[in-house]
Amino acid sequence: MDRNLALDFIRVTEAAAMASARWVGKGEKEKADDAAVEMMRKTFAKMDIDGTVVIGEGERDEAPMLYIGEKIGSGKGFGVDIAVDPVEGTNSVAYGRPNAIAVLAASPKGTMLHAPDTYMDKIAVGPQAHGQVSLEGDVAYNIEQTAKALDKKPKDITVVVLDRERHNDLIKDIRKCDSRIVIIKDGDVSGAISPSIPDNEIDMLLGVGAAPEGVLAAAAIACTGGYMEGRFKFRDDDDRKRAEGMGVKKLDEIMHMKDMLDCDKAIFAATGITTGSFLKGVRFTKEGAETHSVVMRSRTKTVRYVEGHHKFEDEPEY
Ligand code: FBP
Repeated sequence: MDRNLALDFIRVTEAAAMASARWVGKGEKEKADDAAVEMMRKTFAKMDIDGTVVIGEGERDEAPMLYIGEKIGSGKGFGVDIAVDPVEGTNSVAYGRPNAIAVLAASPKGTMLHAPDTYMDKIAVGPQAHGQVSLEGDVAYNIEQTAKALDKKPKDITVVVLDRERHNDLIKDIRKCDSRIVIIKDGDVSGAISPSIPDNEIDMLLGVGAAPEGVLAAAAIACTGGYMEGRFKFRDDDDRKRAEGMGVKKLDEIMHMKDMLDCDKAIFAATGITTGSFLKGVRFTKEGAETHSVVMRSRTKTVRYVEGHHKFEDEPEY
């Protein structure tokens, strides 16, 4: 995929993050999301890509913009499947909590998993533990394997887990290993990527989160050389049917990153909305705003952090 797309993608996530950041702490998750969606769509429209939203805001009849199947970009240029989450962590924005990001991933046309809005069991580790863990193994096995790969003891391992009742047993199992746990309210895309970020305190993500977010995380992890597996956890039969209808092949089997996208040609971009485990949030200044973003390419495994200083009177123009 064109390397120049990377910077364009950052413009898209920056725009979404700045729009949504106006809603931090205001208790209005829909408004925070709508603002980001609109900006994302506006900035995508300026790009010379032949893009299709594969993971977006919902089905066509339930989302006015960035719905699954929507064509984005000018239609000229590379054919790309796009996954977007204009606000990953809508509650984090609404209630002024950490870890909200504006995020997108791209993979060549026809290569991205169409992940329905259901759940996914996930395990993610950084590059040193690549291929050493699996959803086939239990918690103790995966912690031990990660500890070995990082040359640490299980008690030195830190696992990030979403704060959900469904994780009560998982948390007990991690505690039995004497490992540390960082429990987050929202934002398992950041959680899954954290072990791949050098010097991050998180060594592993475990637990069940949203399936579309799984694909977004897989794109980033493919770019860092880290490792992730996912397995659908359908809430009910309707979810399963929807997945079948979307052409999902591995309904019950473990999926590797290559089952979710083209791991050699993916791009991932994100901008912090509220400060999180690896990106600072948007700061409004008297000149405009400051943003912190990351863009990654899997072919070269380049990870670039971009600090944006945006100058505008009242709101940025696009
Ligand atoms: P939203 O931004 O869509 O609210 O997602 C936030 C999030 O915490 C994700 O990071 C995570 O994958 C998902 O919600 C978990 O879903 P649930 O809140 O239903 O347990």
